[in-house]
Amino acid sequence: MLFPHLFSPIKVDSLELKNRVVLAPLDVGLHDPEGQVTDRYIDFLVERAKGETSLIITEFTSVWPEQRVITTAVWDDKFVPGLTRMADAVKDAGSKIFMQIAVLGGKSYVEPFAPSAIESELYTEVPREMTVDDIKRVIEAFILGATRAKRAGFDGVEYHCAHSYLGGQFISPHTNQRDDDYGGDFERRMRFGAEIVTGIKQVCGEDFPVGFKFSAHEHLHGGVNDRYDEDVKDDLHLQIAEYMENLGVAYLHVATTSATIMQVKGFVECTHPSVPPLYIKPNTLVDLAEEVKQNGAKIPVIATGGITDPAHAEEIIAQERADMVALGRTLIADPHWAKKARAGENIVPCIRCNFCHTFVVMDRGGVQCTTNPIVGREKLIAFNKTDSPKKVVVVGAGPGGLEAGLRAKEMGHDVVVYEKRDVIGGEMISASIPDFKWDVKRLLQYYITEVQKVGLEVRTSTTVTLDTLKADAPDVVILATGGEAIIPDIPELMETMLSPALMQ
Ligand SMILES: Cc1cc2nc3c(=O)[nH]c(=O)nc-3n(C[C@H](O)[C@H](O)[C@H](O)COP(=O)(O)O)c2cc1C
Repeated sequence: MLFPHLFSPIKVDSLELKNRVVLAPLDVGLHDPEGQVTDRYIDFLVERAKGETSLIITEFTSVWPEQRVITTAVWDDKFVPGLTRMADAVKDAGSKIFMQIAVLGGKSYVEPFAPSAIESELYTEVPREMTVDDIKRVIEAFILGATRAKRAGFDGVEYHCAHSYLGGQFISPHTNQRDDDYGGDFERRMRFGAEIVTGIKQVCGEDFPVGFKFSAHEHLHGGVNDRYDEDVKDDLHLQIAEYMENLGVAYLHVATTSATIMQVKGFVECTHPSVPPLYIKPNTLVDLAEEVKQNGAKIPVIATGGITDPAHAEEIIAQERADMVALGRTLIADPHWAKKARAGENIVPCIRCNFCHTFVVMDRGGVQCTTNPIVGREKLIAFNKTDSPKKVVVVGAGPGGLEAGLRAKEMGHDVVVYEKRDVIGGEMISASIPDFKWDVKRLLQYYITEVQKVGLEVRTSTTVTLDTLKADAPDVVILATGGEAIIPDIPELMETMLSPALMQ
């Protein structure tokens, strides 16, 4: 069996998971304006469940109404019917489902409130400092949100304290500068979360699992495990993990702070960015999960952050660096990653370009992916077999042309792809030359393998002219020659680094 550790079962509390592959919580922007789940969001999750992901964690689901609704919501009973439909659909497709419960707090653009009214690179304005009464009301909202999740049929909830949202704002010494029952020292900074977790357990029962996602590193002065200064190391992340394990959480999901590059300078280039781009080595955050695990965690530890390759995921589990892997962008790129990995099939790789993150979380445009053109429209676009095959000519064997050719072929059309160079891949070839662009090389390899596997006809070293088209007499011509390299205007770079062959 391929990847035996990755595909071995594991227990989360009393819940049996069939393998170690988790869908990381992903805000995919498919909710309706009120925060209700939509069919498109359900289809998105179901497709990942069908792909043999053992645990689906939903996106940031807001338990608090008074900040702008930008994700799905659970702050009122009116959301329960939609959420029930979602939980049922995912479970029917074979996965377990947890709801991630969260509040924006100081990071909200509307009525921001936080443990302390401080200026921070995380916040767009100084948030209002929460009174103790505010705190009690928000704790109650978290508990009520969890009861609704349970009523809707969710297998558990994940309390979101990562990425510097409200839960994390209470934990972090950077954002929590109170000196009362909810701040001042470690115990008091942890109290907000402790009351939420124990409250959920009291109301939903000890057997209703509460997972915990947290920032084990913050690229913030005075924050958790502050590694601004590479010489400074603290073990606050380990203390947080121990504290929450003792409180009875079901797992420890190890992540980091999240902020935009505009907010926190150097954030994306730091050692542990929460959504690590391709410029940073793969499996970026796994060492943090490993530290938590080696510190003696007895509950499952989930590693996340730049894990795209099944062989890496297998190694992470086999070497006991973590117990499960949460894949975000990887499962946006290929919803059937787990199923294909188990069967040794060709996987559409995530190239960690962060297009998904920019267009959903930052720009609110609804999920999009460079390597998966149908993401978010899983049931709206189907490549069904055609009754009337057409002759299709595709001009250009870059990623666009190859994708179009492969899909047309899958539908049963008679396809030929022309390429003027003697190799396929287009701009992926030059883009994959630097070592750190390993992810792009994998995408190129994915297309080479697919073309061979399905026998897509590609005529290389051929420039398409009117005569070519007249001879072929296609019903449809797809012009896919649009990819252009972005060349920075640096004269020496042009002369020394870019070979003319690559510029053709
Ligand atoms: C489009 C997008 C939306 C995200 N939304 C959430 C979210 O709602 N809640 C959360 O905890 N993390 C969110 N994340 C972070 C992921 O859960 C994950 O921690 C991060 O992307 C690293 O994993 P990856 O490299 O496998 O993508 C989001 C990431 C992306 C790319």
